[in-house]
Amino acid sequence: MERSLSMELVRVTEAAALSSARWMGRGQKEDADEAATSAMRDVFDTIPMKGTVVIGEGERDLAPMLYIDEKLGTGFGPRVDVAVDPLEGTDIVASGLWNALAVIAIADHGHLLHAPDIYMDKIAVGPEAVGKVDLEAPVKDNLEAVAKAKGKDVEDLVVLILNRDRHSELIQEVRTAGARIKLLPAGDVAGAINTAFDETGVDMLIGSGGAPEGVLAAVALKCLGGDFQGRLLPKNEEQEARCSRMGVDDIHRVLRMDDLVSGDDAIFAATGVTDGELLRGVHYKGAKATTQSLVMRAKSGTVRFVDGKHNVKKKPDFVIKP
Ligand code: FBP
Repeated sequence: MERSLSMELVRVTEAAALSSARWMGRGQKEDADEAATSAMRDVFDTIPMKGTVVIGEGERDLAPMLYIDEKLGTGFGPRVDVAVDPLEGTDIVASGLWNALAVIAIADHGHLLHAPDIYMDKIAVGPEAVGKVDLEAPVKDNLEAVAKAKGKDVEDLVVLILNRDRHSELIQEVRTAGARIKLLPAGDVAGAINTAFDETGVDMLIGSGGAPEGVLAAVALKCLGGDFQGRLLPKNEEQEARCSRMGVDDIHRVLRMDDLVSGDDAIFAATGVTDGELLRGVHYKGAKATTQSLVMRAKSGTVRFVDGKHNVKKKPDFVIKP
């Protein structure tokens, strides 16, 4: 893959973030998502690559754009698989909360798991705890292992869990073990990434969330040298059949980093839509806007934070859609 693709991808996530941030706090999540998707789609076609969407907004018949199998890019350049979540955290944006992102991951063709849109059990940790956690181990064991690896007491660990009824037992187990919990309203991709940065103050993400988001988080943690494990949670035969069609051989096994994103190269880019522990969101002041993005590449291990200052009046029409 061309290394210059990294910076091209930031232009795409910036455009999605700038557009969807117009809907921050307005209670209209569909509009926010549509704005992000449409801006992302427009900018993709300026990028020199032969991309195919493997994780997108839905199946061809169900999504107007960025649907699975859609071709992206100019048609010249490297052949890559593309995973997108134009707006990760639609409810967050609608409610003006924290940690919404515009997200893209790419890898060489055939190297990303084609995850169906079902739930996945997840565990994510940063570089210090690589090799120390196991999705199949008791929660208490994982907490103790992460605490030891990070030179902390279990009581000092901060664990991220989506605030959902399905997690009530898990929440109880973590509290009984003595660790602290930050309950997320949504947005477990940002949660997984944050485990790799000390300054966010979080140590681990556990619990179930979307499987497509799991693949995106895995790419991010691969670039960051962290660890991510997932297990698909099909809830009926139809979902099991979808997993098989997507090429997942043993549906119930733990998917490790190389099952989710194989090979040594992948690129991940995200731009903050709303403020978060790691990335600032989009801030508008008249025609001016600022963005903050994270872009990283697994092969080189380079992690870049990109601050953008934008003059909306000078943007081509396709970038900002109110
Ligand atoms: P959306 O961007 O579709 O709103 O998803 C956000 C999210 O919170 C993900 O981060 C997470 O993986 C998933 O939804 C959890 O799903 P659910 O809200 O059904 O528990």
